[in-house]
Amino acid sequence: MDIQVRVWRQSDPSDKGRMVTYDVKDISPDASFLEMLDVLNEKLILDGDDPIAFDHDCREGICGMCGMMINGVAHGPERATTTCQLHMRHFNDGDVIDVEPWRASAFPVVKDLVVNRGAFDRIIQAGGYITAPTGTAPDAHATPVPKPDADAAFEAATCIGCGACVAACPNGSSMLFTAAKVAHLGLLPQGQPERDSRVVDMLEAQDEEGFGGCTNMGECTTVCPKGIPLTLIGRLNNDYRKAMKKR
Ligand code: SF4
Ligand code: FES
Repeated sequence: MDIQVRVWRQSDPSDKGRMVTYDVKDISPDASFLEMLDVLNEKLILDGDDPIAFDHDCREGICGMCGMMINGVAHGPERATTTCQLHMRHFNDGDVIDVEPWRASAFPVVKDLVVNRGAFDRIIQAGGYITAPTGTAPDAHATPVPKPDADAAFEAATCIGCGACVAACPNGSSMLFTAAKVAHLGLLPQGQPERDSRVVDMLEAQDEEGFGGCTNMGECTTVCPKGIPLTLIGRLNNDYRKAMKKR
């Protein structure tokens, strides 16, 4: 496949940035989108140009690092995948593909396609923990967990913190992410002692970071690579109301 990519180039946070067009030739349809960028970067380096900065780590859909907007869609046209698991066969020979960083004020651009997602870390620091006694690990069956709760907690825990939900949301809201983090601990017996303070503190942290409010648009869940459901936002709101009543 021969394609053209128009990539957002921004040398540092103070640079205004611009789209730059590159030709990329002879790409296998079985290459991943990141491998296509690797090929382009090798050419840029050989030509003495600055390679395109983009985040990646696992390249197997579990670290959440490889976020970018592809043709205006978070993680690209396939939806519900990560960029590292998006393959070039989803594009056509001759296509012109726009590649941009996440666009959200809470995720400032560091360079090119790399954004700072430290805001997510600070939301987790505000409440994403449990109190547990130190010492030897308790017996695995010491605290029974009903199977439906275990399954729901596991589903919520699959959130990889990629930020696609924020990038897709017209409000730049992080509610799906926060809801997943609140639910995966709040559904388990071990998460009950901090259940009330967790939801209040994490929502306050979210607001302080400048994320927008949720208006139930639902764009977040359509791009979420882990299928985190909107129902978790309803659960979060419910937990928040109960916690505030007790104050
Ligand atoms: S909720 Fe989904 S889209 Fe949002 S950070 Fe978690 S995995 Fe990514
Ligand atoms: S590089 Fe880890 S999820 Fe894509």
